[in-house]
Amino acid sequence: MPETVVRYEPRGAALALFRCKDNEVLLSGAAGTGKSVGALAKIHYACLSVPNVRALIVRKTHSSLTASTLVTFRQKVAAEALAAGIVSFYGGSAQEPASFRYANGSVIVVGGLDRSTRLLSTEYDLVFVDEAVETTPEDLDTLITRLRNGRLTYQQLIMATNPGPPTHHLKQRADAGRCTMLYSTHEDNPRLYDNGEWTEYGLAYLARLDSLTGARYQRMRWGKWVAAEGLVYEGWDEPVHLIDRFSIPEEWTRWISIDLGFTNPTCVQWWAEDSDGRLYLYRELYRTRTLVEDHAKRMLELMKYPSGQWREPQPRAVICDHDAEDRATLERHLGMGTAPAKKTVSDGIQAVQTRLKVQGDGKPRLFLFRDSLVETDEDLAARALPTRTVEEITGYVWAVKPGTAGAELKEEPLKKDDHAMDAMRYMVAARDLVGRTRVRWL
Ligand SMILES: Nc1ncnc2c1ncn2[C@@H]1O[C@H](COP(=O)(O)OP(=O)(O)OP(=O)(O)O)[C@@H](O)[C@H]1O
Ligand SMILES: [Mg+2]
Repeated sequence: MPETVVRYEPRGAALALFRCKDNEVLLSGAAGTGKSVGALAKIHYACLSVPNVRALIVRKTHSSLTASTLVTFRQKVAAEALAAGIVSFYGGSAQEPASFRYANGSVIVVGGLDRSTRLLSTEYDLVFVDEAVETTPEDLDTLITRLRNGRLTYQQLIMATNPGPPTHHLKQRADAGRCTMLYSTHEDNPRLYDNGEWTEYGLAYLARLDSLTGARYQRMRWGKWVAAEGLVYEGWDEPVHLIDRFSIPEEWTRWISIDLGFTNPTCVQWWAEDSDGRLYLYRELYRTRTLVEDHAKRMLELMKYPSGQWREPQPRAVICDHDAEDRATLERHLGMGTAPAKKTVSDGIQAVQTRLKVQGDGKPRLFLFRDSLVETDEDLAARALPTRTVEEITGYVWAVKPGTAGAELKEEPLKKDDHAMDAMRYMVAARDLVGRTRVRWL
């Protein structure tokens, strides 16, 4: 095999991960500490040094894997090896999943747990689950059964994640001693901290994290597994409300609800309504610093073929924040009228809470598709801010009464990271609080 240079020095938790041979190991930590790079480097190194190793890199959804973890792999971890032709990428086929193939016969298969049949039909030496906080215990149990290729002296499930609430199954798994928890810190990342001091980039990065608030601040800045206090949607339960995509029947009504922003993100949500009135968020755009006309263009691209034919049923209404002066611009560029949102907060929140409750038939009346997000706003991701609806729900809290040191909560939510929350409330209010949504076609 030709020689390749691997320029990577693992430090702290990443170094501990390199040495660790335990069956299950979880690299947990704040945003940007080097968790993904560390785990990917360990797998790359194992594949380079031992022939015929089989590794698997997954995330909960295929789209998030290709947009984040694999970009890191190509650019930060395997760049030299790819350039030298020691590793090449194979895009996959109907029978075979996509993979990175090494000259010595080692292979890294890549994919999403949402399309896992092809991935799980073979066996592996190493499995890496990035953003493991998104997985279910069943996902992990299934992956473990695939760990028996026997090319390495040990088989290992490696997970990396930002922390969630302390009740999360990953934290419980570590507390119960089933997996080894390694806490990764910003000091472990030489790009942020080097020669005993913070780099210029590191200081700027930490300053951005310092502007976060609440549980998000504790988790993303300090890597703590803390619960969000005073959640507005306490009834939100990921295993119940966050679901895998299914093909939506043509006859279900489609809706769009929008909260417009510029410095703050614009959130565009597409909802499908079944015959019993349940709502499913099946697509969303969530993006800052984008002109209204560009949002309109993107929305049309997603809904129509270049010929102008609809790819999917036309939305019955586009429900929009009516205070926004941009509404007229949006209507013009969409070529569609919009319906003004009912914006009252407290009854809107109550209506959403009611929909989240599991009914007699065992189902709630509102669901989110796990892979609803079309593309990640990398600027928001780099600032550790929410990038989609589900991330807002779990951080949406009641405001605290001033002077009560957090002891008393107001009857209104904290006006922060609430753009998807507004759009979702407008959607529910339009169905449950307004008699009938009037549609005006331009
Ligand atoms: N050992 C290292 N040497 C040089 N640069 C590193 C190292 N580890 C991380 N980095 C740099 O830091 C960046 C962030 O690393 P990485 O994506 O692994 O962080 P993370 O902990 O997975 O972040 P997140 O919490 O957002 O998932 C990388 O893109 C890379 O540029
Ligand atoms: Mg990462």
